[in-house]
Amino acid sequence: MHAYASSYLHSVKVFSLGLLAITIVILLSPPPAFADTDEEIAISVATLLRSARAVISDKQKHINTAEIGDKGVTADLVISTAKKNYLNKTGTDIDTIDRSTLHGQLVDAELLAIKEVMDEAQTTINEEGVGLKGFLPAVFARLVTQRFKTSAGGKATIKLTAPKDYVRNRANRPDKWEQNIIQEMFRSPDHPTGQHFSETADVKGKAAFRLILPEYYGESCLGCHGDPKGERDITGGKKEGGKLGELGGAISVVIFH
Ligand code: HEC
Repeated sequence: MHAYASSYLHSVKVFSLGLLAITIVILLSPPPAFADTDEEIAISVATLLRSARAVISDKQKHINTAEIGDKGVTADLVISTAKKNYLNKTGTDIDTIDRSTLHGQLVDAELLAIKEVMDEAQTTINEEGVGLKGFLPAVFARLVTQRFKTSAGGKATIKLTAPKDYVRNRANRPDKWEQNIIQEMFRSPDHPTGQHFSETADVKGKAAFRLILPEYYGESCLGCHGDPKGERDITGGKKEGGKLGELGGAISVVIFH
């Protein structure tokens, strides 16, 4: 009886110690990594594109200064500043996103696309004696999204597009799905400003998650996209007659399933 009680007590002790150990392990281990949703991933890659494009916008005057040769607008500068912009916007340090997840892989693919575009643009950007170089934020965005198609290995695509009647570059034309959302939803006066739309939809016969975010004309855009409609802007393109705050474009993300 006595022996039984003591061995019973012993096993209770061992059991409690075991529980304690398990509890400590649970408390010390990092929270389980829940996979990000397609929506979170799509918004993240679009935010990274905006964060990088903002660097080109901020440096536009500098890039177009004829008297300066080496501008210092390198891939490293664009990527490090884009990461800061992303952190300010989202509160997340992009380097902490788990690279073994789809989210991490797409972020890396996008950073690689940015690096390649910036490396290739150095000769254009650093040319002395030339003012306007045509390396615009929208051109940068298009080049990055074209590169991303390859670097993302067909798992996802990003596109900067615009309403059909506003598109400058034919490569940026909206597809039917994009044009429909832009026209029927984003251009509707009661659509809440900035609100994105997403749904599961087939893209070229493949099942995919699609998300589209509206973009609006700010003051700085109107020199090229504003009034008077049809007049040539400094790039030689025709102005759209866009108004301040009007829907001017959209970022469209596809994640294939
Ligand atoms: C210096 C003139 C200029 C300014 C300023 C400018 N854009 Fe553009 N924008 C262009 C040109 C040129 C293109 C075509 C780029 C290309 O070849 O992909 C373009 C393309 C775009 C596109 C892609 C769809 C398309 O039409 O091909 C969007 C969206 C866009 N601009 C929005 C904006 C917004 C928003 C701003 C202000 C934040 C802005 N642009 C400022 C000249 C300008």
